[in-house]
Amino acid sequence: MIEHDILVVGGGLAGLAAALNSDPKLNVAVVSKVHPLRSHSVAAQGGINAALGNNPEGKDDSWERHALDTIKGSDYLADQKVAELMCQKAIPAIYELEYFGVPFSRFPGGVIAQRPFGGAGFPRTCYAADRTGLVILHTLFEQSVRKQVKFYNEWLVTKLVVREGKCAGVVIYDLTTGQIMPVRARAVIFATGGYGRVYLKTTNAYINHGSGIGIAYQAGVPLKDMEFVQFHPTSLYDKNILITEGARGEGGYLVNNKSKRFMEDYAPSTMELAPRDIVARAIQTEIDKGNGFENEYVQLDLRHLGEAKIKKRLPGIREICINFAGLDPIESPIPIQPAQHYSMGGIDVNLKCASIIQGFFAAGECACVSIHGANRLGGNSLLDTVVFGKIAGEEASIYVRGSGDTGLEEKILLDEALELKKRIEGWEKKDSALKIHLLLNRLKEVMSDNVGLFREKKNLEEALDKIHELKEQYHRVHLSGQCLRFSQELVNILEFESMLDLAEVIALGALNREETRGSHYRLDFKERNDKEWLKHTIVTQKDGQPLISYQEVDASKYKPKAREY
Ligand code: FUM
Repeated sequence: MIEHDILVVGGGLAGLAAALNSDPKLNVAVVSKVHPLRSHSVAAQGGINAALGNNPEGKDDSWERHALDTIKGSDYLADQKVAELMCQKAIPAIYELEYFGVPFSRFPGGVIAQRPFGGAGFPRTCYAADRTGLVILHTLFEQSVRKQVKFYNEWLVTKLVVREGKCAGVVIYDLTTGQIMPVRARAVIFATGGYGRVYLKTTNAYINHGSGIGIAYQAGVPLKDMEFVQFHPTSLYDKNILITEGARGEGGYLVNNKSKRFMEDYAPSTMELAPRDIVARAIQTEIDKGNGFENEYVQLDLRHLGEAKIKKRLPGIREICINFAGLDPIESPIPIQPAQHYSMGGIDVNLKCASIIQGFFAAGECACVSIHGANRLGGNSLLDTVVFGKIAGEEASIYVRGSGDTGLEEKILLDEALELKKRIEGWEKKDSALKIHLLLNRLKEVMSDNVGLFREKKNLEEALDKIHELKEQYHRVHLSGQCLRFSQELVNILEFESMLDLAEVIALGALNREETRGSHYRLDFKERNDKEWLKHTIVTQKDGQPLISYQEVDASKYKPKAREY
């Protein structure tokens, strides 16, 4: 049986940071559903925040200001000590990335360039043109190769094995061979990313089904604040490819069909650089009021930035527009609409990235350390991955050095794999014409129609009813392919169970939270209500059912205020 001291699940930025920072004396490996360079981190565009103060407009910046902006941006749901920790660690993290070889864009004097981003008091977003995620991912992958990190690519983790409150390993489906097998591990770190594909319109890659979060939940780990779903204001109309916030950071305008920069009605002092929840809702409101184009989109106008700036700072955006919309932003405005982009909630972990299960850690988008609260600021997610990925690697190493063997007989792990093999046979034998792609599409419609930017009781109840219907139908699904090598149908069937669980937790948390906070906007409860709702939502699975409870927020330093921009 394959065995490791630490098994990192996910080959994106958080996973690579975890592997690179695990004790090199330990036997560490990374399992990834795709080749690491195809992880979704590669799609991050606009940048990574740190209060370096390199921009002349930002010389008075500090990590404390960064933390305060993050907390205010979160609509005061972030745990304040955790936000401070991230912002403090941001500065050395950027210099470490630079040392590793990340080719950041530079200002004329040679220092790392920084651009303005939404909700930030100073221009503190470091970038590499508009391909920041790509260059950091490539650099960390190079470092992993240099350090001879062991990778198992195109392996899908299907189960977290836990016995007596202790993590013992995982069960995997090896797509390349079709084999199902257990992997024993003394510690497991999930860095499995977000669940964007639970929605119809998302900037996320097709791999982002969120099954890591679902698997942790099914193993008894609580999920936190899952009702907070970020919609990015600017995705390319119809294709929903990300059009970076950096485009507005560089000075782009949002314009409606009356040629008006409508953000003056929603965030008069910050305009296009208000936080994402506010800008996304403003865009959708304009479209709903009939001020959009074809009732579907508004325009992002970059023409006044000029050819040289667009080519230098936003080359990827120009390429996307030319290839996917047949227009050149140097000459034409870009049609944009909001789309699901990020999950603020996730696997409930503490500031050491540790969960309630001994030996099980999580970092990056799949985790909720509680930094982003009800709304994440742009540029803070890449930061989250490198800072908390590193902490997860270090803390898992400390845990492994101090703990004995899992003590678990091999047979128990083998039995878990056998159980999955039997389930697969069951799906093959099902006498039904029900195909997984139909259920997948239905779930996406249900979530987009009912649990989107604007929410209300009747839609959320309708969503829950439909999710329960889909859960019933899932039992009848049929797996048609005989060959299990690279079976996308099997991947979808395996991951759909998690997608249903996540959809249920998101909708349930949203239904219960009778207030508006950050990304969670209730048409029937339009105000923030700190008295009753300044608390984290915790959902745990008990006998297959979601059990909801609440947890105090650390608001010890900055008292919640009205959030004005
Ligand atoms: O707009 C963007 O470039 C995305 C950045 C982020 O999600 O942090």
